[in-house]
Amino acid sequence: MGHTAVLIPGDGIGPEVSEATKRILAAAGAQIHWIERAAGVAALDQGADSVLPADTVNAILEHKIALKGPCTTPIGGGFSSINVALRKKLNLYGAVRPVRSLDGVPTRYENVDLIVIRENTEGLYAGIENTITEGVITSLKVATLDACRRIARFAFEYALTRGRKRITVFHKANIMKLSDGLFLKCAHEVHDDYSNDIAYDEQIIDAGCMRLVQDPGRFDVILCENLYGDVISDLCAGLVGGLGVTPGANFGGDAAVFEAVHGSAPDIAGQGVANPLALLMSGVMMLRHLAETRGDETCTVAADRIREAYNACLTSGHKTRDLGGTLGTSEFADAVCAQLQRQGAVR
Ligand code: NAI
Repeated sequence: MGHTAVLIPGDGIGPEVSEATKRILAAAGAQIHWIERAAGVAALDQGADSVLPADTVNAILEHKIALKGPCTTPIGGGFSSINVALRKKLNLYGAVRPVRSLDGVPTRYENVDLIVIRENTEGLYAGIENTITEGVITSLKVATLDACRRIARFAFEYALTRGRKRITVFHKANIMKLSDGLFLKCAHEVHDDYSNDIAYDEQIIDAGCMRLVQDPGRFDVILCENLYGDVISDLCAGLVGGLGVTPGANFGGDAAVFEAVHGSAPDIAGQGVANPLALLMSGVMMLRHLAETRGDETCTVAADRIREAYNACLTSGHKTRDLGGTLGTSEFADAVCAQLQRQGAVR
C-alpha cells in the first residue's frame, strides 16, 4: 500500500530539511508518493501569482495529507502569514506539538514528555486589525463558542487515545474575562465527559510559564488558545534542545498538515547546517497518522525504524550544530540513512 502526500518545501531552510526528510523516509521503506507544491516566497520565486497558490491548497484538499516546510512572513507589514491562511482555509483547527527529551541531547531537564495543543484558527490570529485614528490601533481577539468547544473536545480525545492523564489549560481569563473566559468554560464543560480518565486543571499563563521552566515534568497536555500556544510551543522547545527537535501537526477538517514548530531560520538558510530532525519527526507523526487512519502497518514499522535510527545517531554523537555537534543537514541525513541500513542488516 502506498500513499500520496503533498510536500511543500517552503522558504529559508525549508528545502534543505525537506530534502533530508524525504530521503530518510524513503530509506526507512515508507511508501510515500510525493507531490511537490510551492508556498511562501518560494511560490512567488517560481512564478506563482500568490504566496499561497490555489493549486497548493487544492492538492492538499485532494490528498488530505501534507508535509510542510516553514514559510517566511514579513514582520510589521507585507503579506499576511501563509501558515495562518493555510490553517484557516483547510480548517486545521488543532495543532499538536509533542515535546520530549531525547537521549543524546542533554538539557537542564530529564524526562520531559508533554504535548502542547493549540487552537489554530482564531484568537488574535484572526488578523483583524484597524487603525481607529492616527496613533490608535486595535487588534481584535476572537473567541467563538464553536471553536472553543471544538478544540477542547479535540484535546480531550487526543489525550484519551494517547493514554495521557492530565490536561492543563493556560489562560489569562483574569484579564480577558470574556474571550479566555469562554475558552476556559468550554474546556471545563468538555472535561465532564472525560473526568473518569483525565485530570484537569487551569493555570494563569504567566505563573504557568514559571512552573514550566521550574519543573516541566509536572505537565502532561497543555491546552492553549492560538497566541499562547504559539509562544508556549517555542518555550517548550527550549526545554528539550531547541527548535531543531520539536515537531508538529495540524489536524482538522478533512486534512492534516505536518510541520516543524520552527520557522524559515533566515540566519542559517542556504548554509546546509539546519537540523532536519524537527521536520523528520513531523514526518514520523505523519506516518503514524497514516497508520492510524488508513490501517497501514508498514507506516508504523517505518516510523519506529526512523525513531530508533535517529536516537542511535544522537546517542553516538552524530548531531547537527544546534545540538552541539558538527554535522551539516545532509551529513546528518546520511548518518540516519546509514543507521537504517545497519538496522535492516541485523533484522
Ligand atoms: P525561526 O524558528 O525561523 O528561528 C529561530 C532560531 O532558531 C534561529 O536562530 C534559527 O536559526 C534557529 N532554528 C530554527 N530552526 C532550526 C533548525 N531546524 N535547525 C537549527 N536551528 C534552527 O524563527 P524566526 O527567526 O522568529 O522566524 C523566521 C521566519 O519564519 C519568520 O518569517 C516567521 O514568520 C517564519 N515562521 C514560520 C513558521 C511556519 O512556517 N510554520 C513558524 C515560525 C516562524
